[in-house]
Amino acid sequence: MSNKNIVWHDHRVGKEERAAIKGQKPCILWFTGLSGSGKSTVANAVEAKLLLLQKHTYLLDGDNVRMGMNKGLTFSQEDRIENIRRIGEVSKLFVDAGIIVLTAFISPFRRERDAVRALVEKDEFIEVFVDTPLKICELRDPKGLYEKARMGEIPDFTGISSPYEAPEKAEIHVRTEHLDIEASAGKIVVYLQEKGYI
Ligand code: ADX
Repeated sequence: MSNKNIVWHDHRVGKEERAAIKGQKPCILWFTGLSGSGKSTVANAVEAKLLLLQKHTYLLDGDNVRMGMNKGLTFSQEDRIENIRRIGEVSKLFVDAGIIVLTAFISPFRRERDAVRALVEKDEFIEVFVDTPLKICELRDPKGLYEKARMGEIPDFTGISSPYEAPEKAEIHVRTEHLDIEASAGKIVVYLQEKGYI
C-alpha cells in the first residue's frame, strides 16, 4: 500500500559520486538459467576476477537470499514473482551505492526479468543467459533435486513441472556445455571492459 505521507529525499551524495571513487560504472549482471545450469558458479568466478581487478562487487545468490530476506517464499508463481521483485529492488539500491551487482536466480519469467530491467537505467541491466540444456542440468543434478522432482517429491520444479522462459535478447549468452567456468567468466569480464563498465 502506498503512503501519501512518505516523501522521497534527494541526498547530497549521488550515484555518480559513489561510483566515481570506485573507478567503475555500476550495473546489475543478472544471471538467469535453470537450476544446475551454473549461474552461481559462473557468477562466483566473475566476482573473483573483478576482485583481482580491484572492483567493488556484491553477489546475491538464490539459495542464500531464500534463507534470509526471502525466507518463507515458496516456488509458486506468485512467490517467485515476489522473490524477483524484492531482489530487483535490492539490486537497484546496490547500483545506487556504486556497486557491480551479480545476481544468480533462476528468474524463470521473462516479464519479471524485464520489470527489473525497467527499474534501472538503460545500460545498468546486463542479462546473462546461462544456457545449459535441461538434459545436462539433470545429469549434473548437484543438489539431487531433479531426481526428487522426477519422483514427484518437489512440486513446481523449474523445467519439470514449472516453466522456464529463456531470454530472447540477453546481452551475454553463455553455453556451459561448450565453455568451461573460467572461459565463461572471462567472456563476461571482457564484455564489462569493452563496454566501459570497468
Ligand atoms: S526463482 O525461480 O524464484 O528465481 P531461485 O533462484 O530463488 O528461484 O531458487 C532456485 C533454487 O532453489 C534452485 O537452484 C534449487 O536449489 C532450489 N529449489 C527448491 N525448490 C525448487 C523448485 N520447485 N524449483 C526450482 N528450484 C527449486
